[in-house]
Amino acid sequence: MIEFDGTQFLLHTEHTTYAMGLFQGLLLHLYWGRRLHRAPDASICTSFLSRPLSAKDLGDASSDNLPQEYATFGSADLRQPALDVRYQNGSTVTRLAYVDHTVTDGKPPLPGLPATYCEEGDGVQTLEIHLADETVGLDVYLSYTVFPTFDAIARSARIVNHGAAFELDAALSAMVDFHGLGECDLVHLDGAWARERAVTRNRIVPGTQGVESRYGASSAMHNPFLAICSANADERQGDVYGFSLVYSGCFTARVDLDPYNGARAAIGINPFHFRYLLESGESFTTPEAVLVYSADGFGGMSRCYHRLYRTRLCRGKYRDADRFVLLNNWEATYFSFNEDRIVEIAKKAAEIGVDTMVLDDGWFGKRNDGGSSLGDWVENREKLPGGLEALSDRIHALGLRFGLWFEPEMVNPVSNLYEAHPDWVLHVEGRPRSETRNQLILDLSRQEVCDYVIEAVSAVLRRVRIEYVKWDMNRYMSEVGSAKLPPERQGEVMHRYMLGLYHVFETLTTRFPHVLFEGCASGGGRFDPGILHYMPQIWTSDDTDAVERLDIQFGTSLVYPYSTMSAHVSATPNHQVGRTTPFQMRCDVALPGQFGFELDLNRCTDAELETARASIERYRALQCVFHEGDCYRLTGFRDDCAALAFVAPDGETAVVSLLTRKATPNAVDRYIRLDGLDERAVYRCEQDGVCYGGDFLMYRGLAYRCGKEHESRLLVFHRVADDAEKKGESRQ
Ligand code: GLA
Repeated sequence: MIEFDGTQFLLHTEHTTYAMGLFQGLLLHLYWGRRLHRAPDASICTSFLSRPLSAKDLGDASSDNLPQEYATFGSADLRQPALDVRYQNGSTVTRLAYVDHTVTDGKPPLPGLPATYCEEGDGVQTLEIHLADETVGLDVYLSYTVFPTFDAIARSARIVNHGAAFELDAALSAMVDFHGLGECDLVHLDGAWARERAVTRNRIVPGTQGVESRYGASSAMHNPFLAICSANADERQGDVYGFSLVYSGCFTARVDLDPYNGARAAIGINPFHFRYLLESGESFTTPEAVLVYSADGFGGMSRCYHRLYRTRLCRGKYRDADRFVLLNNWEATYFSFNEDRIVEIAKKAAEIGVDTMVLDDGWFGKRNDGGSSLGDWVENREKLPGGLEALSDRIHALGLRFGLWFEPEMVNPVSNLYEAHPDWVLHVEGRPRSETRNQLILDLSRQEVCDYVIEAVSAVLRRVRIEYVKWDMNRYMSEVGSAKLPPERQGEVMHRYMLGLYHVFETLTTRFPHVLFEGCASGGGRFDPGILHYMPQIWTSDDTDAVERLDIQFGTSLVYPYSTMSAHVSATPNHQVGRTTPFQMRCDVALPGQFGFELDLNRCTDAELETARASIERYRALQCVFHEGDCYRLTGFRDDCAALAFVAPDGETAVVSLLTRKATPNAVDRYIRLDGLDERAVYRCEQDGVCYGGDFLMYRGLAYRCGKEHESRLLVFHRVADDAEKKGESRQ
């Protein structure tokens, strides 16, 4: 699957090939796309060697005209580099040449960083290509792990210094030089708080386009992902090239189209205000980028990411175990609750089949609003006179699990922790410390601060019976500085913070393997593959409105499987947008995700409770199809009809969710074509007993009319033996 013939590297997955070649010691990018049966001719490297005005740094040729694999800056190639280094003599010229390479079975972990992994039988191999700039004693090891059955390639780079100290100004995870790019679009996921991950698609035009985060978190504004696709690409067809970064901090994801139809796509840590000092003997490893090519449009790309991230990025007991149906009290009570009130909510939840009660913000210190106590992880005895133990006991006595909210990365200036350690926050001496939500960020680039966070959370998890933790993070970074690092290392703070955070996650999830951790950042402000390595689910958005959630979940599903999206039924009028939607729709929108509730069920009507109970039952029956099956988006982003299908791994069951996002009077007739079925098989619809051919469902589809606002239907299709048809059952 990884081949080398002396000049060319071929990396094959089941359906794709990625090719590189050597030209005068330079590592060039040759090809990425559908699987090739034979290596491209080496001359393709050199098709476009000379152009007017390019400086010649390769004899008669110029690296400026060649598609490179990991470009540096300072010589003839004047495009955006993947690696940019500043040396002590003031020079910024770096030139890398091929040294050697190794191919090994399996995949080594990335030290201190989240990454995909492989299991026995995956047939995974890793190619490491060693490049060097001997003049300055710099080595680069480019790593490519090929996941053949997942059709994915995971890339990262390690930079090692064997010479005098130098600074990294940019060290990206992956770049790809597309040559001769035709009409292509750039797709990314953008938004803001409560409207995260909207799909944005634009034609790629000359110049630089892309997204980035400067926020100290992957952010709600942009996601560490981009796709380049052919202009005709849709859910089912067309070339799509996906780049996804396994990182939770500042990132860049961009593409530069040059005047010769060459496009350089790159993804990695945002070079903006990044500066990393490497002393002699030190090394730096970039986060991992996961590259997926699909010839089957966005649907094909998403299913590759879904399978890989669900089973080879998420880890631990809850990767495969059924997760919890929980009720979270946040929108039910906000800060005003006490032990009895929580138990009253939990009782009703237990009656309808909920299995976990989660206590959100406000249980600790003197916290009755957002003004104080973050950092002081000791219960508020006014609200919880018997402490967390008494509450947990009462919840467990109802037959429920107990879950708890933390925001451990933060501190309020009004807190015991801040009084004791005012220098433990990110800050710059002599500058005001800007607050968001009255809070400052603990400096996780410092070991002792990480230790405090680990011990504070561990103390509660050891003392109290807790099976679930919601790990929140509610602000972006400002005045980024660390009291511990010397001036020349202040450009490292944001990345060192992420390394500290990952260390905290690794320690806690290893120490408490029975606890299901859920990520959160003011909703989906840090919904990225880095978090998923430690926490298999994330609170998708603070917007719980069913219509808004349709869009947010759709956009999120471009990269992330529904099994990672926490989705709750909340009260109406909705607290974020004031919209009233039917209870059934709210349940149906939440069902494919990690299903739960975020309201006081005591305020629901009997009919609503019955719908909730029935939905939980349905969820339990279909959970494995939603979370282990393949997902097909049957309609587009913000279509009036939102239709999704999930097909179980064994192909025996398909679930179709049909929702009217927006009704029209006297609406037109539509047919929603299913996908992922066996065209020769027969499927019986559980709801009306009608049998359909798989071919009919996929090539003609289900009739649907967007005539009634917020109507929702969930249809379950079971594959039946072909003789069922012969027995005279009706078939369409
Ligand atoms: C964030 C989370 C919410 C809730 C509040 C509590 O906004 O996204 O779900 O936990 O914090 O303060």
